[in-house]
Amino acid sequence: MNNKKIGLVRGGLGGIGSAISQCSAADGFRVVGNYLVPGSEQTWLQAMREADFHDAHTTLGDVGDFDAMAGMVKKIVAGVGSVDVLVNCAGITRDSQFRKMSKQDWDSVININLNGAFNVTRHVIDAMVERGWGRIINISPVNGQKGQFGQVNYSAAKAGLHGFTKALAQEVIRHGVTVNSISPGYVSTDLVMAIRPEVREKIVAQIPAGRLAHPEEIGHMVAYLASDKAVFISGANMAVNGGQHMF
Ligand code: CAA
Repeated sequence: MNNKKIGLVRGGLGGIGSAISQCSAADGFRVVGNYLVPGSEQTWLQAMREADFHDAHTTLGDVGDFDAMAGMVKKIVAGVGSVDVLVNCAGITRDSQFRKMSKQDWDSVININLNGAFNVTRHVIDAMVERGWGRIINISPVNGQKGQFGQVNYSAAKAGLHGFTKALAQEVIRHGVTVNSISPGYVSTDLVMAIRPEVREKIVAQIPAGRLAHPEEIGHMVAYLASDKAVFISGANMAVNGGQHMF
């Protein structure tokens, strides 16, 4: 029997998600990476194998769909085992000034970034409570803390995740389940590289560290919060932003 704990990374094949998956695997977790668009899973599995992580799995599923997530979690439990750590990492942007923002761009960002956390967490939390051990880690970047020009939808969804974290943390800590959030700053991923270069340069100029974050700098924080060492941390937010925003 394999006694290693299992981590499900929602959005696990993306830029930050892949680094989280690798850092968690390095810390001894069996990892399941969730993804939405077929095509990148073989590359991800290959990268995991090359890093010597052979107990890695992928699972297709739309985090915006509550029932689909019920089915996905059932499959993971049957095929790999119970989920001990859930990292809610999946996120999309539909940036535009609010006065140009369509209802669809509002709805899709709220649905994936905020409802998605409910849609997966709801299906794993009971079993964590029953086992008396669990970790929920919500990735809620800096723009959910400070707001950002062009991101009313994204900032609202990610700010919502902070409330989600703090409320759920109070309900489940007595059962050995911690709930925390991590607020990455601007990370060198496709999401950030998609920002127009002149806009991005202005943003980087405002980061005291003088650079974008490396994805693994977020991954190490996830691995720490997922570990037994972090048992007394719950309802907290860990800022990993190079000094860009402090409070
Ligand atoms: N504050 C104040 N004014 C600003 C501004 C800002 N931060 N950014 C732009 N403006 C002003 C511009 O100077 C410009 O003014 P003028 O018309 O007087 O010249 C006006 O607003 C329009 O700016 P744009 O030309 O940029 O407007 P646009 O409609 O073409 O583009 C946008 C809007 C797509 C939102 C673009 O500004 C943009 O990409 N901004 C960056 C968005 C961003 O940071 N996304 C983060 C993605 S990563 C992530 O989400 C994770 C995380 O938390 C780090």
